[in-house]
Amino acid sequence: MQETVNFIKEKTNNFVPEIGIILGSGLGELADEYCDYAISYTDIPHFVKSTVEGHKGRLVFADICGKKVVMMQGRNHFYEGHSMEEITFPIKVMKLLGVKTLILTNAAGAVNESFRPSDLMIITDHINFMGSNPLIGKNDNSMGERFPDMSEVYKKDLIEIAEKCAKDLGIDVKKGVYWANSGPSYETPAEINMIRMLGGDAVGMSTVPEAIVANYCGLNVLGISCITNTASSTNGSKLSHEEVIEAASNAKIKFKSLILEILKELNL
Ligand code: HPA
Repeated sequence: MQETVNFIKEKTNNFVPEIGIILGSGLGELADEYCDYAISYTDIPHFVKSTVEGHKGRLVFADICGKKVVMMQGRNHFYEGHSMEEITFPIKVMKLLGVKTLILTNAAGAVNESFRPSDLMIITDHINFMGSNPLIGKNDNSMGERFPDMSEVYKKDLIEIAEKCAKDLGIDVKKGVYWANSGPSYETPAEINMIRMLGGDAVGMSTVPEAIVANYCGLNVLGISCITNTASSTNGSKLSHEEVIEAASNAKIKFKSLILEILKELNL
């Protein structure tokens, strides 16, 4: 980890980011517009390479609205065959680089029947149904506790800031619980019914491992889902990755303006 951190510091002229952002499927444009330094994951020691289409796979450093930001343009997923430890490694690296606040974004399917494609949902809490946990294994006490509390993974004050920013911009933002499955298969109608009954509002295949590790190592987490589809519709239409990318792309202007407004509002 120290090797990775030293490499990044050298490549970025000792840029010290205060905010980290993970940009989900179809939401990576922010890192194209704001980019002072970019390093491809393939060039970073110990980073794993993204295998999903629609994910660029680079770490982008930029000064945005007066805030020092590091963005992951594309993330790695459990369903790609990477270990939980591998997919959450960048979170620990961000922590060591100086990040205090982490904004996690993703594309997700709507479980809550009042949600529509291209809605944005502020994550209030999560349910980990991935069948694993990124903290399994020997604990590094310098990072966090063996049995970390998870009672407020998504910080209330950050949720309030995000809601206020959405209101100021006239964006009708939803709030809800993000349910994480391992994927890569989308859910069956029976699974969506179960998720709804058990309290999930949106479903996806990412974010939760990163949120757990971020909370564990003391980062303040904000999560925003871009609703891209009605999860496992029972109307006979089929769901594809292309549809997910297209819907995320339709929401990207709204999404981008919300993130920029949040960056402006954050007092660190
Ligand atoms: N299910 C799981 N993950 C997703 C979905 C979905 O419907 N849409 C985007 N990511």
